[in-house]
Amino acid sequence: MHGKPIVVTGGAGFIGSHLTDRLLEAGEQVIVVDDLSTGSRSNLSLAERNPRFSFRACKVSECHDLESLVASAAMVVHLAAVVGVEQVMRSPIRTIETNLGETEVVLAAASHSGTPVLLASTSEVYGKSSQPEFSETDDLLIGPSTLGRWSYACSKLMDEFLAMAYYRERGVPVRIVRFFNTVGPRQTGAYGMVIPRFVDAARAGRPVQVYGDGRQSRCFCHVADSVEAVLRLMKSPEAVGQVVNVGNDQSVEIRELAERVIQVTRSASRVELVAYETVFGPGFEDMRHRKPSLKLLEHLTGFRPRRTLDEILNDLTGS
Ligand SMILES: NC(=O)c1ccc[n+]([C@@H]2O[C@H](COP(=O)([O-])OP(=O)(O)OC[C@H]3O[C@@H](n4cnc5c(N)ncnc54)[C@H](O)[C@@H]3O)[C@@H](O)[C@H]2O)c1
Repeated sequence: MHGKPIVVTGGAGFIGSHLTDRLLEAGEQVIVVDDLSTGSRSNLSLAERNPRFSFRACKVSECHDLESLVASAAMVVHLAAVVGVEQVMRSPIRTIETNLGETEVVLAAASHSGTPVLLASTSEVYGKSSQPEFSETDDLLIGPSTLGRWSYACSKLMDEFLAMAYYRERGVPVRIVRFFNTVGPRQTGAYGMVIPRFVDAARAGRPVQVYGDGRQSRCFCHVADSVEAVLRLMKSPEAVGQVVNVGNDQSVEIRELAERVIQVTRSASRVELVAYETVFGPGFEDMRHRKPSLKLLEHLTGFRPRRTLDEILNDLTGS
């Protein structure tokens, strides 16, 4: 893709800043558009030293030359979004408006120039489905609209439908990535992301709060693996018009995760079980298990994330 820049929306965030670093390392030009609502310039301190990097501090929809920026790009990687259950519960209007509105603006601009778009979606779209493993063409089971938690999944699912519509109707080459839980350096615990929250509590000697009975399980993927998968999908012509899971498929129960964090940080903290209702209000629903099928990712890219949970925790805690 050398020659034309790659536009990364949300590039000052957790995944976006790692992707930006890798693209620059590979010799690409990168333009980040980020309103710094949850991201931070400090995530880009390495990138800022590179002459092939530039930064626009604005909302995607308020970027005055978005059309020409998109037209000049080899690809737009659209990561800008309101992310994480806590933010979604706290600011439902902003979540829905951002996640739908900003994607619409990106796709409309791309349709005028034919610029390829890679869109970040989420494993949340699988909802309450109880399949042992989630595949991209599975039916989805989202909860009712009276429970605000599902608005994140629905907003991202509408993004997927919209991207597929632009692909079919306007020929925009879109790739859709469903990220499963991604973790690593630069992820903040401020918005409820589980591993940074556990590490912060364990380091401060506070109880490590596990919501529910702690028997729910998740799979955690190191951000370096997720970014490698994205880089390969960006180059895969076969990935155009497809939805692809990106994550790790080793599961861990959340209570066990809390205990491992306490162990690796050599903390005296204890695990405390807290009812979902206490944190998120009445009627909150969570999914019991969430594990990706990685068959399609492997088929398209020859790659599957392999970093173990121990490697992830060691990396995060400097152990
Ligand atoms: N981290 C995960 O585990 C995970 C899992 C599933 C999906 N995702 C998706 O991956 C993408 C990146 O997530 P992340 O974990 O890096 O989150 P993040 O909050 O660190 O990054 C999002 C970035 O978007 C920016 N942003 C928000 N609204 C914006 C707007 N209107 N205009 C410009 N910038 C805006 C924020 O400032 C932030 O830098 C998101 O689309 C998210 O839905 C992440």
